[in-house]
Amino acid sequence: MKDDILKDDFIDEIILTREEIAGICEKFGEKLTEEYRGKRPILVGLLKGSIPFMAELMKHIKCETEIDFIQASSYSGVKSKGAVMILKDMITPVKDRHVIIVEDIIDTGLTIQEVMNLFQDRGAKSIEIVTLLDKPAGRTVNTVTPKYIGKTIPNKFVVGFGLDYDELYRNLDYVGVLKEAVYKK
Ligand code: IMP
Repeated sequence: MKDDILKDDFIDEIILTREEIAGICEKFGEKLTEEYRGKRPILVGLLKGSIPFMAELMKHIKCETEIDFIQASSYSGVKSKGAVMILKDMITPVKDRHVIIVEDIIDTGLTIQEVMNLFQDRGAKSIEIVTLLDKPAGRTVNTVTPKYIGKTIPNKFVVGFGLDYDELYRNLDYVGVLKEAVYKK
């Protein structure tokens, strides 16, 4: 199945096809609908990587839901810089609200930890994490435990479906491992 789809020449291996991503979002949508019915949660996407995932996921949530976005960054190129900065804040107040953080991938966990701390400080009623991908081998904070994980992957650098290398490849409609030759020049 995965061999049938066209693989770009800068990709080593396909991690998730478009169809697999749609299946994950459908499953998560059903669970979130059940869990949050009547609670009017805010889905908060971490810019920019979560955009395609958020767009697909929200279609499958069949209860009253709001969306917003926040931008926090610890990355440059293929490596985490360690310190997290809030580059763009969200608009909706989170005080006494149920927050669902929507993330493309969790690696060290530093970004999401920082965003969770911020929401806790602002008085969110509950905070859950939905991530398309998880790289547990890269984790440096042990307090980040996503409730919903699309796929757990090895410690490889992946791009596509929102994920970038140097701002490129976000527009691929699948997720794949980027060839090392692209960034080890
Ligand atoms: P963390 O703070 O180390 O958990 O990193 C989370 C963020 O780093 C994600 O939202 C991505 O923007 C970026 N990131 C981590 N791993 C990858 C990867 O394999 N490809 C592209 N971006 C990644």
